[in-house]
Amino acid sequence: MLLLITFYLSVAYYGAHWVSRSLRDYSRCHEESTHNFQESMQNRPIISCFNRSDDEISRFSRALGSYLNTQLRCHDRFYLITNTLRILLEVALGAVVSTLARGIIRGTASPATFIVLVTYWNSISGNLTGLTESLKRLRAILISAEKLLRILYTQLTVIDGSKQLRTHSGHILFEDVSFSYKGQAGEDLASRVRNITFKVPDGSTVALVGESGSGKSTLANLLSRGDDVDKGAIKIDDQDIKDVTLSSLRDVVGIVHQDHFIFDRSIIDNVRFGRPDATDDEVKEVCKAIGLHDMIMKFEEKYEKRVGERVNGLSGGQK
Ligand SMILES: Nc1ncnc2c1ncn2[C@@H]1O[C@H](COP(=O)(O)OP(=O)(O)O)[C@@H](O)[C@H]1O
Ligand SMILES: [Mg+2]
Repeated sequence: MLLLITFYLSVAYYGAHWVSRSLRDYSRCHEESTHNFQESMQNRPIISCFNRSDDEISRFSRALGSYLNTQLRCHDRFYLITNTLRILLEVALGAVVSTLARGIIRGTASPATFIVLVTYWNSISGNLTGLTESLKRLRAILISAEKLLRILYTQLTVIDGSKQLRTHSGHILFEDVSFSYKGQAGEDLASRVRNITFKVPDGSTVALVGESGSGKSTLANLLSRGDDVDKGAIKIDDQDIKDVTLSSLRDVVGIVHQDHFIFDRSIIDNVRFGRPDATDDEVKEVCKAIGLHDMIMKFEEKYEKRVGERVNGLSGGQK
């Protein structure tokens, strides 16, 4: 009997591990096929333009095939373990019943003991099945939550400063700045920003020129503290940006990213995204300055025209 219980618990324990492994594969394949689908849908015009629809369809079919296979494997393992545990319980019950029946025949056990033991067995076997089912469900939930937990427990690398940034003229100084992106284990990846020193005097325009991947966008990212410098300092009006609050810093630093993204809202809401308290007149002034006002006025809804990823109507440049 003891042997059977030990065997039951071992099957439950190692079976749960075995099912977890396939659950992890299933979760990864599900993510890959969803990502594949979204990527293909978002890039429809490029796929058609380069006549790559067939390749994309077979890529997606492969991803979907792996997803379905892992899902089937997961179900197979789950039902195999569940049924093995059920059979073990039935075998154990058979052992108990036959032992007691022999005892009753020999006169060493009473029929009352038989009834008590069988009732007792039924109640613990029901609870054991419930417990193993709950453990398996809990494992499945934990696997889904693993990624979320990893994000929640990620150490912040950019710590908020305590002072308010006070801008006067707005001159910027990069002082012997070095930085490298970090890998998953926190190791330094190849660095492109090493001992950079330059000034941007107030009111002036400075262009950083270099080949792709030389670190220009990284320097802009460091200015808004998307990441923190490893060495050196960046100062705005003589205040180290590490010492000031992220909110006061990002209020005065504006970045136009290479990859444009438009929110699924009106033109006016998109233009004043960075400063929600900007008045309608201020938004119009900005649009006039960049030569978009006349084009916007041609729309029936004018500044209220809804634009975005789903509702379009703007050229790449206009975005
Ligand atoms: N988030 C990131 N993680 C790791 N490496 C990055 C990241 N962003 C950029 N890099 C690497 O840093 C280098 C500089 O990139 P970037 O500053 O974007 O170049 P560019 O001068 O073209 O703007 C490149 O080699 C790029 O591969
Ligand atoms: Mg760049």
